[in-house]
Amino acid sequence: MNQPPLLVATTNPGKLREVRALLRECPIRIVGLDEFPRMPEPVEDAETFEGNARLKAIHYARCSNGWALADDSGLEVDALGGQPGVRSARFAGDVRDDGANNAKVVRLLRGVADAARGARFVCVMALADRDGVKATSSGVVAGRMIDEPRGENGFGYDPHFLVESEGMTAAELGAERKNEISHRGTALRGLLAEIQRLVAG
Ligand code: IMP
Repeated sequence: MNQPPLLVATTNPGKLREVRALLRECPIRIVGLDEFPRMPEPVEDAETFEGNARLKAIHYARCSNGWALADDSGLEVDALGGQPGVRSARFAGDVRDDGANNAKVVRLLRGVADAARGARFVCVMALADRDGVKATSSGVVAGRMIDEPRGENGFGYDPHFLVESEGMTAAELGAERKNEISHRGTALRGLLAEIQRLVAG
């Protein structure tokens, strides 16, 4: 069957895996950025997750001349005034480096009591075609930062992010459970009806 394509505009294999799993029931063909090796990257210079998600979705929809789904996500730590926020991917430097980012957060939180280590992952997703953004949705998951990494799953800050309601870090959760409770899962579920209506038709 000829299913309509949806470009899931991320170069992060961890995110692509999560989005594919969540959209597996949807009658559309998920296309990753690997199928567009020459596509230019947008400059993610907005000050909010929503601003970046919107500019990425429009950029990739125009470049691919089709539907694009983009997200912007990150970690907000209360004791760091909401940092790393929109700079989560490159918190420790210009190159994306999960190990260095985690080491920086652990260092900045040295001496901060457990009770003051509240944090959240935030995700905003945007669905666009070449005329502009047609829908957005957001999701949040609350947790607490811990010094010692735990777990092998996931990516990014997951091993240091304790989801207290689960008694596990995000890297100890199975992929399915993470999708059920995660910021990205919540944001994507909020867009499913629009993806069905607009893309799958
Ligand atoms: P983006 O690709 O610009 O949205 O950057 C998101 C960054 O936020 C990632 O590179 C991670 O550092 C962090 N991040 C976002 N979502 C997650 C998650 O589910 N687990 C761990 N880190 C995340």
